[in-house]
Amino acid sequence: MSPTDNPKDAWSQRRSYIFIGVLIFAFIQAGLYAGRRGAPDNFPEDAALASDSSSASGLRIRGHVDEHPIPKLMENAEKKFRKLLSKQSRTLKAAVAEYRRRYHRNPPKGFEEWWKFARENDVKMIDEYDGLVDDLAPFWNMSGVEFRRRAVQAAQLPSIDLVRIRSGEAEATTIKNDLDDDDVSMRARSFLLMVSKFQHLLPDMDFPINARSEGRVLVPWEHRTYPNTSFQESLGGVNSIVGSLYTPDWQGRGSVWEAYRRICPPDSLARRLLSAKRISFTNDTHNFFRLSSSGPGSDFKFARGMDGNYSFCSNPWAHYNQGHFFSDWRTVPIPYPILSPAKSSGYGDIKIPSHYYYGTTRRYTYAWDDVNQEVKEIDSMETPWEKKDDRIFWRGATTGGGSSPPGYSPQYQRHRFVRMASDTSNKNETIVFADPPGSSNYVYTKVPTKALNEEIMDVAFVSSVDHVHYPGGLAQQEKDHRFWDAALLRDYWAHKYILDLDGMSYSGKFFAYLASDSAVIKASVYNEFFSDWIQPWLHYIPLSASYREVYNIHAFFSGATDATLEAANSTSLDLPASKRRSLDGDRRLRRIARAGKQWKKTIGRQVDMEAYVYRLCLEYARLWADDRDAMNYSP
Ligand SMILES: *[C@@H]1O[C@H](CO)[C@@H](O)[C@H](O)[C@H]1NC(C)=O
Ligand SMILES: *[C@@H]1O[C@H](CO)[C@@H](O)[C@H](O)[C@H]1NC(C)=O
Ligand SMILES: *[C@@H]1O[C@H](CO)[C@@H](O)[C@H](O)[C@H]1NC(C)=O
Ligand SMILES: *[C@@H]1O[C@H](CO)[C@@H](O)[C@H](O)[C@H]1NC(C)=O
Ligand SMILES: *[C@@H]1O[C@H](CO)[C@@H](O)[C@H](O)[C@H]1NC(C)=O
Ligand SMILES: *[C@@H]1O[C@H](CO)[C@@H](O)[C@H](O)[C@H]1NC(C)=O
Repeated sequence: MSPTDNPKDAWSQRRSYIFIGVLIFAFIQAGLYAGRRGAPDNFPEDAALASDSSSASGLRIRGHVDEHPIPKLMENAEKKFRKLLSKQSRTLKAAVAEYRRRYHRNPPKGFEEWWKFARENDVKMIDEYDGLVDDLAPFWNMSGVEFRRRAVQAAQLPSIDLVRIRSGEAEATTIKNDLDDDDVSMRARSFLLMVSKFQHLLPDMDFPINARSEGRVLVPWEHRTYPNTSFQESLGGVNSIVGSLYTPDWQGRGSVWEAYRRICPPDSLARRLLSAKRISFTNDTHNFFRLSSSGPGSDFKFARGMDGNYSFCSNPWAHYNQGHFFSDWRTVPIPYPILSPAKSSGYGDIKIPSHYYYGTTRRYTYAWDDVNQEVKEIDSMETPWEKKDDRIFWRGATTGGGSSPPGYSPQYQRHRFVRMASDTSNKNETIVFADPPGSSNYVYTKVPTKALNEEIMDVAFVSSVDHVHYPGGLAQQEKDHRFWDAALLRDYWAHKYILDLDGMSYSGKFFAYLASDSAVIKASVYNEFFSDWIQPWLHYIPLSASYREVYNIHAFFSGATDATLEAANSTSLDLPASKRRSLDGDRRLRRIARAGKQWKKTIGRQVDMEAYVYRLCLEYARLWADDRDAMNYSP
């Protein structure tokens, strides 16, 4: 890594810049922020960044970062996942003991057959079903007869289908009174396929399947805490329990957020604020999710994982940034056992694998051979790593939420990203990069957002679905966001970074992206069936809901861009383009791409989803029974 001309001069000059930078930084840290020394990240406070004393003297590198956090995040992720894999039970006896240790009761009846199924199919995750047990916990408090009644009633609600098992055979149906709603959804059909291998081993029972992608069950805090204040009994039938709720959408009477607030404890911020009222910033389309408590150096803070446990009760302002809080579909305030593909924190749904992951289609399955009807190893349109483009790729429709109430879509998760990635204002990002490239000498500087966007973002909407409710209509929506032609899968695989953003709910393409030879950057506020099984920073790169750090993620893996080197007035600009790249970063990125692919191939298979659903069915069968003790597994 020797710079071309005058390496010594350039280096010593840079060193002295850095030295001065460090001095200034250290001074500010010690003088003004001594009390915050224990902060967990190593990035200076905003106040230190804003100090322009350095650039005034022509010094454009603003400081030095002792250690980049990403290598450590990756290293820890790998260790953690290795440990998780290696501690999975190897024998039935060990699995039973682990189950008892975790949940303080016996496994459900049929556990031995489940164990055999898992063994025969080389299922890696034998013990990791905490999410599933959590989902079912509320139903332990009601009797078997009550649980059964609620399951049947739930299936009478709009957009809830029913999968019924009778004498060892499953069928999907709907039992609605109104004829408008009599098509069985893909989600119910897919669930039917998931249980097909073991249906003959299951007792008679009914599963209400959510036909929509959004979570449905939001039980108010008071009703969860004092169940006797709510309807204890569902004897009166669905209408007495749900009453006027028997409409598919809100019809202007309430919203998801209004329902969500009630699940929060009475002393939480969400309950205290009049936060559902319209606020003025929805018209300000340039405001993308500034954290209200915009803390230290937020361009350089990295998410540890997904935001599936994020507390909207404590951070009510954040709900404006997530489309699902504006969904048109009505939620259900009663603890009904409803099976859904994803849920954000606070929802009472029971998670099952999405039909997009389980099924095989050209749009949602990597390397799906439509002609021979099989999944191949490598997609016919895959691109070799060396030929992949270094930019971050995303395409999608302007979905992401409903319009209850209307007018908030500019703040939804997809709109925010597309706007951020096509911002041409005079904003700057603080970019941390290795200088010289490939070294571990990390410096930072401010780089114009506009230039970065041109260099590293390939992000656009391909269609508009909600412009009627967009402030200013379609013309304004097109003015505020980049729109581009629909993408072929080939275009995805041609990029090293594929971005995965939530839509109306979870993103159905995640498994296809993982399976590809590209690395996935994912932001999500959902927990899904596999959340306990996958490791962020090993199998994919997690992105915070603010997206702010995405520029620094790119700078770490792909090295400083020209705009960054120019902004820093770095002598590395004199290096040939090939020497300016970060080889180590690129190797690390490729490692994530490979690990994601490997995960999909060994843990994200159809049969893994079946093992999950099989185990869910056993737990469900025990809840379904009048005598639950009789439904315990006994060796
Ligand atoms: C950039 O750095 C060179 C020395 O490497 C210096 O002469 C020049 O003034 C700097 N330019 C700016 C705009 O800071
Ligand atoms: C619900 O179950 C939990 C644990 O099983 C128990 O502590 C609690 O008292 C139960 N609540 C009611 C209302 O039955
Ligand atoms: C509900 O239960 C709580 C304690 O579990 C009790 O204090 C309260 O009086 C009960 N309320 C009603 C309406 O029965
Ligand atoms: C979210 O919470 C659940 C249950 O409390 C826990 O099992 C899971 O590990 C948490 N996930 C994350 C990412 O913290
Ligand atoms: C970004 O940096 C440029 C050059 O340093 C400066 O002129 C501009 O005002 C900055 N933009 C903002 C929004 O601070
Ligand atoms: C915000 O948008 C609405 C509808 O698009 C418009 O009627 C209103 O005048 C706008 N408010 C401001 C302050 O621009």
